[in-house]
Amino acid sequence: MDGFDINPLAVLISKAKFTTLSLPLIEKSRDKLREDVFTVLKDEDAVEAIQPPKITNIAYWFSKEVIKNLNVLKHSIDALDNRAVRTLFYVPFSETVRDCSYTRTNEFKLYRIKAEDMLDFNPDVIGLFFKRLRDVITDYKTFYLPHLTDKTTIVVQDKVFEGIKDKYDAVLTSPPYGDSRTTVAYGQFSTLSNEWLGISHARKIDARLMGGKKRAEIMRTGCIAEPIYEIQQQNDTRAREVSAFYFDLETSIQHVAYSIKPGGKSIYVVGNRKVKNTELPTDQFIAEKFEENGFTHLTTYKRVLSSKAMPSKNSPTNEAGKTVNTMLYEYIVICEKI
Ligand SMILES: C[S@@+](CC[C@H](N)C(=O)[O-])C[C@H]1O[C@@H](n2cnc3c(N)ncnc32)[C@H](O)[C@@H]1O
Repeated sequence: MDGFDINPLAVLISKAKFTTLSLPLIEKSRDKLREDVFTVLKDEDAVEAIQPPKITNIAYWFSKEVIKNLNVLKHSIDALDNRAVRTLFYVPFSETVRDCSYTRTNEFKLYRIKAEDMLDFNPDVIGLFFKRLRDVITDYKTFYLPHLTDKTTIVVQDKVFEGIKDKYDAVLTSPPYGDSRTTVAYGQFSTLSNEWLGISHARKIDARLMGGKKRAEIMRTGCIAEPIYEIQQQNDTRAREVSAFYFDLETSIQHVAYSIKPGGKSIYVVGNRKVKNTELPTDQFIAEKFEENGFTHLTTYKRVLSSKAMPSKNSPTNEAGKTVNTMLYEYIVICEKI
């Protein structure tokens, strides 16, 4: 099985979920890590000797105490022998980075908490990490490990999927629901974690995602043309940004369609966002593009969004205080290659 995502953190999480590991090894490594962390923390010279990571504006996002503790944690995880165990442990580490930074937790974009709240913000980094690690191990044990067999080989890569003729029986994916600048900013959301994990291009991820690059043309054909025209009547720039996203989604669908075997299926999970109060029928766009690439649209399931972290209320008119429900449903679009 293969997986692709442009965001290295998303790839890391998938690798952690899909790699078979023995539970006693995980537990032994956790105990060793706890011991190592406290041994290093007791020795000031050892703490000083650890190279700090390259984080843009580190002092803006983290207190000195948090930097010290995260540094010791990262150093001690790096020192664990087993690569798959390290990958699993980087998952709670990346969550702890977010928990302990000055970022506002209810935002998808990077915004710092208010100056007056920073004084009272003294998180217990090590305690939070081991609590997160316990939850990650429980989820791994309960949901992932039981489905992994000796025959499960899953290769996950951080790159754009370019297509291999008739290779796959099925492709299951959830593409972004819009450009990440104005929808969910996956790049920004994960910047600090990616930087702590040593990803040097962390701040360039959003520009590489679908709709991340500007284009001059406007999409004038198919089911998306009319809503884009409506947006253009109100704001030409927004219409071009929205178009750029659909051009990228179309290219990606062409690569996916080419890679599915005849009789194989594509399954896309997506939400229809609103821009300038105009709903964009992304589910129909996906079905339409697959049909243009030799598929039949079998069905689309519609379900109410549950507790997923989604921007269900934003200001599509960009006027402060004016919010509308942008995405309350999720669509599962299923097509079959003829
Ligand atoms: C809606 S999320 C889905 C995340 C995850 N696959 C899931 O199903 O929970 C969209 C994902 O698409 C990724 N992405 C955006 N543009 C991409 C592209 N051109 N190639 C590969 N991945 C991309 C983003 O990094 C983000 O993780």
